[in-house]
Amino acid sequence: MSSTTRADAGGVVTDTYRALVCERLSEDLSGVAVRSLPCVAPGPGEVLVRLHAASVNFPDLLMTRGLYQFRPDPPFVLGLEAAGVIAVLGAGVTGMQVGDRVLVGQKTGCYAQQIVLPSSGVRPLPAGMDFAQGAAFRAAAITAYVSLVRKGTLAAGETLLVHGASGGVGMASVQLGRHLGARVIATGTSDEKLAVVREQGAHEVINLRRESLRDRVRELTAGRGADVIFDPIGGDVFDESTRCIAWDGRLLVVGFVSGRIPTIAANIPLIKGFSVIGVRAGEYGRRNPAKGAENMEAIDRLAREGVFRPYIGARFPLERSLDALRHVAERKVLGKIVIEMP
Ligand SMILES: NC(=O)c1ccc[n+]([C@@H]2O[C@H](COP(=O)([O-])OP(=O)(O)OC[C@H]3O[C@@H](n4cnc5c(N)ncnc54)[C@H](OP(=O)(O)O)[C@@H]3O)[C@@H](O)[C@H]2O)c1
Repeated sequence: MSSTTRADAGGVVTDTYRALVCERLSEDLSGVAVRSLPCVAPGPGEVLVRLHAASVNFPDLLMTRGLYQFRPDPPFVLGLEAAGVIAVLGAGVTGMQVGDRVLVGQKTGCYAQQIVLPSSGVRPLPAGMDFAQGAAFRAAAITAYVSLVRKGTLAAGETLLVHGASGGVGMASVQLGRHLGARVIATGTSDEKLAVVREQGAHEVINLRRESLRDRVRELTAGRGADVIFDPIGGDVFDESTRCIAWDGRLLVVGFVSGRIPTIAANIPLIKGFSVIGVRAGEYGRRNPAKGAENMEAIDRLAREGVFRPYIGARFPLERSLDALRHVAERKVLGKIVIEMP
């Protein structure tokens, strides 16, 4: 890290800035608090971005518990994605200017008034998006895109079943699946949330609290089952999904918010003729940089065309960002939660 400095380009950055810091791992968020941190100047190849909004992703909560695959040592600033304005350019940075409106994607550091990061970690804010929409768009959109287009090869006319459809990655998958010409069946556990999911593009919804997944999907597909299943839930939802998937179906393993990583006997996909496919949206781009760049261009274009329109279900000021994480823990998420910076 560079030495502490007063970096005031853009007239907004001061000696210290506020951020949500995970000071120790905890089950109940007791190790997380908003703190003042010293400003640092960007080093060569880095930029300082004055952040206006960040969005909450489920992995943020997992990181406070040490349960995510990426396990930084505390203390660290939470937050994977944000939007703001470039305030200071480090030496040697080209192709961008102070004042540019940008998206920031990082593994940590985004629930903050400012962030210093390599210039390669910022992208232009898509035209027509404000800071809140920009902060809420990218992680969910890239997960939906890699899942449905690259891994699931979803085709027009196929049936797409989206679990966790009221959450960030689920709702983006509903929007993309509809755009790709699929018939979209969305699942969730609240009628109120599912009404919004329907407005966002789902043709059919299933409330798993009172309906049988297997029976309803079979009924809606005349016994065939779903062609592509997007599963960020795992546990029982994964198990039931193997009972309502079509021949040649693709069951996409995206996450385990249920808390149980399911297992499957290898003879089941063999007999039923379906594939179980793991998705790691970020890693996909790191391992295939050319395709990763194509993916980013595709989601930016889809955002400009209005396909990806993040539904912002709640907003919290940075000083109350701990409440935003509690919202996730209490399963109150609808679409995306945005944190706004003073
Ligand atoms: N593989 C990848 O590349 C990739 C990329 C990004 C995210 N993910 C993963 O995808 C999952 C979803 O992330 P997200 O940011 O979309 O989460 P989110 O916005 O919090 O949404 C999760 C949804 O899951 C449902 N849910 C079911 N059981 C739940 C439980 N026990 N606790 C909380 N929610 C539960 C909730 O809907 P109802 O209340 O309606 O049931 C909620 O809307 C996470 O596991 C995340 O790590 C994976």
